[in-house]
Amino acid sequence: MASRIKLLVLDTPEAVAQHVAGQFVSLVRDRPGAVLGLATGSTPERSYAEIVRLSKAERVSFAGVHAFNLDEYHGIACEHPQSYRTYMNRHLFDHLDVRPWNTYVLNGAAADVDAECASFEAKIKACGGIDLWLLGIGTNGHVAFNEPGSPADSRTRKVALAESTLASNADGRFFKTPAEVPPHALTAGVGTVLDARRLLLVAIGAKKAEIVAKAVKGPKTPDVPASLLQDHADCTFVLDKAAAERI
Ligand code: GLP
Repeated sequence: MASRIKLLVLDTPEAVAQHVAGQFVSLVRDRPGAVLGLATGSTPERSYAEIVRLSKAERVSFAGVHAFNLDEYHGIACEHPQSYRTYMNRHLFDHLDVRPWNTYVLNGAAADVDAECASFEAKIKACGGIDLWLLGIGTNGHVAFNEPGSPADSRTRKVALAESTLASNADGRFFKTPAEVPPHALTAGVGTVLDARRLLLVAIGAKKAEIVAKAVKGPKTPDVPASLLQDHADCTFVLDKAAAERI
């Protein structure tokens, strides 16, 4: 089957953030009990700031929303300054009226990792599945922490991070050296992500251009996990010009 990925190329990172925020805020306006999927990394930061601004400007309440995050580092406490729980609270949850108990970020410090991953999947099911999941892409093609080699039917589990991911996340934005980055993570699987009713993958900047092109029009292969999104019935890549230039 040919790639079903839809492309939306916008002029600037700000326009990308405005589009993403518009999609989330209008979903929640129309469906106050919406089930959202969220991501971390540098890319969504602008989108989260814009969701906060727009939801306040348009008086859209997130009080009925459930929100699930893609992934979390293994072996660090929720309170760690670089945990994805800390990131989400800082960039989004603390600024919305979403109920903290309805926000689900995998617990990287859970004593029983398998039970933690199974309960994450069960909670998504109990909420009726994810309406809209925001995704980023790693320079090696990872989605969440599904590194190259992750199959399309993978579920939430503990994974080892690729060397390139350790390096990317140790460039000073999050950690200072690769040795500081936790070597393992808990991540929603490719299959978990593909179950969402709608996907929005966001990429910004020239350093994502090559991998975005491979994901959109390259062969569908676990070597480029984002290429496995090609089969999804409603997946849009929202790109700035720089990230789209190799397609
Ligand atoms: C991180 C996250 C991913 C994210 C990706 C890209 O390690 N686990 O979910 O999409 O890498 O991040 P960035 O937006 O910082 O380039």
